[in-house]
Amino acid sequence: MTKIFISCALPYANGPCHLGHIRSTYLPADIFARYNRMVGNDVLMVCATDEHGTPIAVKADKENKKPIEISKRYHDMIVRDVESMNISLDNFTRTTDKIHYEIAQNFFKDLYESGLIYKLDIQQLYCNDCHKFLPDRYVEGLCPVCGSEARGDHCEKCGRALEPTELDSPRCMTCGGTPVIKDTYQYAFKLSEFEDTLKDYINNNDNLPANVKNYASNWLKEGLNDWVLTRDMDWGIPVPIDGAEGKVLYVWIEAFLGYISSAAQWSRATGVKWEDYWNDYVVHFIGKDIIYHHSIFWPGLLKAHDCKLPDMIYAGEFLSLEGEKMSTSKNWVIWIDDFVRDFDADLLRYYLTINAPLNKDSDFSWDDFQRRNNDELADVIGNLLHRTFTFTRKFFDSKVPVYENPSDDDLKFESQIKALPDTVGEHISNYEFREALLEIFKVAKSGNKYFNDQEPWKAVKQDFQKASNCLYLSNQLAKVMAIVLKPFLPSKADEIAKILSLSNADEWDDAKVFLPEGYAVKKAKPLFKKIDDDVIAYQKEKLQKNLNDSGDENMSDIIDIDYFDKVDIRIGQIKEAEKIEKSDKLLKLQVDIGEETRQIVAGLAKFYNPEELIDRKVAVLVNLKPAKLFGTLSEGMLLATGESGALLTPDDCDIGEQIQ
Ligand code: 2FM
Ligand code: ZN
Repeated sequence: MTKIFISCALPYANGPCHLGHIRSTYLPADIFARYNRMVGNDVLMVCATDEHGTPIAVKADKENKKPIEISKRYHDMIVRDVESMNISLDNFTRTTDKIHYEIAQNFFKDLYESGLIYKLDIQQLYCNDCHKFLPDRYVEGLCPVCGSEARGDHCEKCGRALEPTELDSPRCMTCGGTPVIKDTYQYAFKLSEFEDTLKDYINNNDNLPANVKNYASNWLKEGLNDWVLTRDMDWGIPVPIDGAEGKVLYVWIEAFLGYISSAAQWSRATGVKWEDYWNDYVVHFIGKDIIYHHSIFWPGLLKAHDCKLPDMIYAGEFLSLEGEKMSTSKNWVIWIDDFVRDFDADLLRYYLTINAPLNKDSDFSWDDFQRRNNDELADVIGNLLHRTFTFTRKFFDSKVPVYENPSDDDLKFESQIKALPDTVGEHISNYEFREALLEIFKVAKSGNKYFNDQEPWKAVKQDFQKASNCLYLSNQLAKVMAIVLKPFLPSKADEIAKILSLSNADEWDDAKVFLPEGYAVKKAKPLFKKIDDDVIAYQKEKLQKNLNDSGDENMSDIIDIDYFDKVDIRIGQIKEAEKIEKSDKLLKLQVDIGEETRQIVAGLAKFYNPEELIDRKVAVLVNLKPAKLFGTLSEGMLLATGESGALLTPDDCDIGEQIQ
């Protein structure tokens, strides 16, 4: 048995998760972790929120809050997002946790004491208006290498890690002013001493994937400079040496250590040594924008500490949205929280995995998401499973039927089913997640063809054994699916396992054990549903609408009075109410708001019968942009509590009155 240390890149606690995070990092890590647990490997999968550094400090400045308030807010949201996507982390902590401070400070101190970190007199950007140094993202300007807009620490366009002083035309992010260069001192790490070791690690390591090797070896060709590891700012982990008062550790050196502190926290709680996992096999799942940090800085720091280097760095390429680059500042993004409110997380896990291999850029489009869901999940995988279970119930007394005198078709299908677990497993072991899922899809597709060719609905009357063999094998495939789909679609796989009452569905090898004849199969509902055009049209509309709102600024929970003044809430009275066909949540209402009657679609069907609502006085947001829900126009929104759907009932007010 192998022990495997899996890490996911630490998300900055300055915003919730969006599709890009899930695609590049958490989902591949989760597929790999789940599979390895299923084959009996011992997995430790860790992550944490990255809570220091300028992204959070800048946001806190903007919102007039303390950085810790910002990072706590987003830590909580990220935990919720990661859980809602069913990412099976063993520990998820914070870089503001005490254990992380201890580990990061000790790591720094050790390097300082061994002479690998030294004091360096340097010049840095300083804003005379804000009276402070401007590290990293406190400054923006033009990348000296490719000329694109870049942040002080990194150019997104060419992927280069930067120093703020290297930027052309720098601007202070707080006041917009032009900073000046000022003398100061920092502490630097002798990265240049590790150039040969790193070249060897990158160039002579067949395990590393091509994108990581290519980027890293190109950077290494240019030679390595020493790396400044401290910053003049208040928010961060204090530099633990005399003479460094007022300085903090650069967020990147301690972010890497978040992998270790998360694991160490887990060790304290479980009593199991995390080092055994690290020393056996380590894989870092990251996005391609941080290859530089993980292939050069981190191995350099580890070597300096005489630690084993990561066995694998897996870097997911970028995800675009409807053909355009995603942007949180422009709100051209789909937040996980929004997605899982409307769709099952497994549908997204399927789409993001099958759409493109991880080492290629990919695009999310609502139309394509609908197509893959409807044509692949519903029509192929769902259809095969549903036909199998309903036929078994109808014609075989809900039992796996007898398999006798198999035909050539039967034997061919049987061998496909038997080969599937190994093929899928091999792909996952090789980090080929898309190929693995495609294999499952291909066998489901040939399963459907086999089912159609055997025509069991006719055969039950004419050639019973033929129908019996067909349903025997289809149930075997259903069992295999309950197991091999689990790393990809854990909830759906569990549903299949429940229908088949599988007790060992968490063991990969159990996929090779066929269900015995006569085995009971439970009644099943369809596992995958088609998504209607209306639902997709609504999502596309929502995306466009979000783009018109002002992205990141929207994430703040403070609004000013002018903002509130725009909100027009009036007293209305419900005149008519009816259910909306195909929706178990929505009611169509006609609401008298004084000057006119508005049609409003409200998510109240679970809480009220239409009749109960007639003549009820309600608070109505009347200047909401109209939208279509399930093809029905809605021109406003009723105010109600989120959890219980209780309507605000302003009985003492007159119809048409405005709430101010
Ligand atoms: O780029 C980022 O989002 C960083 N917060 C990633 C840190 S990964 C690591 F080093 F922990
Ligand atoms: Zn300034």
